[in-house]
Amino acid sequence: MGPAANQAVDATAAAPGGVPAIEVRGVVNRFGTQLVHDALDMTVEAGEVFGIVGGSGSGKSVLLRTILGLQRPQAGSVRVFGRDLTRLGDRELREVKAGYGVTFQAGALFTSLTVLQNVQLPMIEHLSLEREALDGLAMLKVRLVGLPAEAAFKFPSQLSGGMIKRAALARALALDPQLLFLDEPTAGLDPISAAEFDELLVGLQRELALTVVMITHDLDTIFRTCNRVGVIVDRKMISDDLQGIVSNPHPWIQQYFHGDRAARFGQAGGGATAHRGEATGAARPVPVPAATPTGDDRGA
Ligand SMILES: Nc1ncnc2c1ncn2[C@@H]1O[C@H](COP(=O)(O)OP(=O)(O)OP(=O)(O)O)[C@@H](O)[C@H]1O
Ligand SMILES: [Mg+2]
Repeated sequence: MGPAANQAVDATAAAPGGVPAIEVRGVVNRFGTQLVHDALDMTVEAGEVFGIVGGSGSGKSVLLRTILGLQRPQAGSVRVFGRDLTRLGDRELREVKAGYGVTFQAGALFTSLTVLQNVQLPMIEHLSLEREALDGLAMLKVRLVGLPAEAAFKFPSQLSGGMIKRAALARALALDPQLLFLDEPTAGLDPISAAEFDELLVGLQRELALTVVMITHDLDTIFRTCNRVGVIVDRKMISDDLQGIVSNPHPWIQQYFHGDRAARFGQAGGGATAHRGEATGAARPVPVPAATPTGDDRGA
């Protein structure tokens, strides 16, 4: 897996030093009379894993679509490595988008294509490579996310849930992105598979010097992977490192991080064990807590 790691380090070399990876300023999103975001700010520094949290309908997906340039906000700016997306033409926007890797929560893979073919799709679209190089490069991505070589020739229906998440990640990494966006990457996984995915993500983020923005309801994942968290409340975002967020007095944040689910992290009383406090992944993933409740209690 050495060559893949080397290759990916270049991804950050392209990032201008000192400029935040993402800078959202004063963003307003409205649907008819419904105001979803009201002067929302968000900053993601290069090289961090940033978690987006918020109640259902608080506007997490809308924010993600805004950052991805799929939806123009009514007001405000979205800068990606210093370039304001809201002012770019279609051609430039396409260029910026080619530097993104995205995994969507549902329907991540084309069911009629094998894993390898799925991973090759963005490559075919953006690179001009010969068949053999394409196969080799795609296989590299498949192995990079910890899938066995055989999995490359299987169809999504022949994979486990955890393998599908990994395959989607392999496809998101197809073009060596600097920025990776994940929407609920561990939703629906059992706690052990989720912990393995988190560990993979932390490892890849460090090896490939990725900047990761992740929407998640999963407290385990947040504490294992995120450096900082942005919570959407009252149509704005409150961001801080884990320690700061956990001790934030906002009632929704208190409820979220200090409710029953949070108790097992020893968070009550603000004694956060901020596993990933460092800016660039000095921390290690922690083992999955025993007897973690699954599924149903995870929605906000
Ligand atoms: N295209 C659209 N047209 C009209 N309303 C929309 C549109 N997209 C989103 N909304 C509304 O904006 C609000 C925020 O939606 P969004 O999907 O961002 O929520 P969310 O925080 O991702 O919730 P969940 O956790 O349930 O996924 C919702 O009330 C939704 O109905
Ligand atoms: Mg959503």
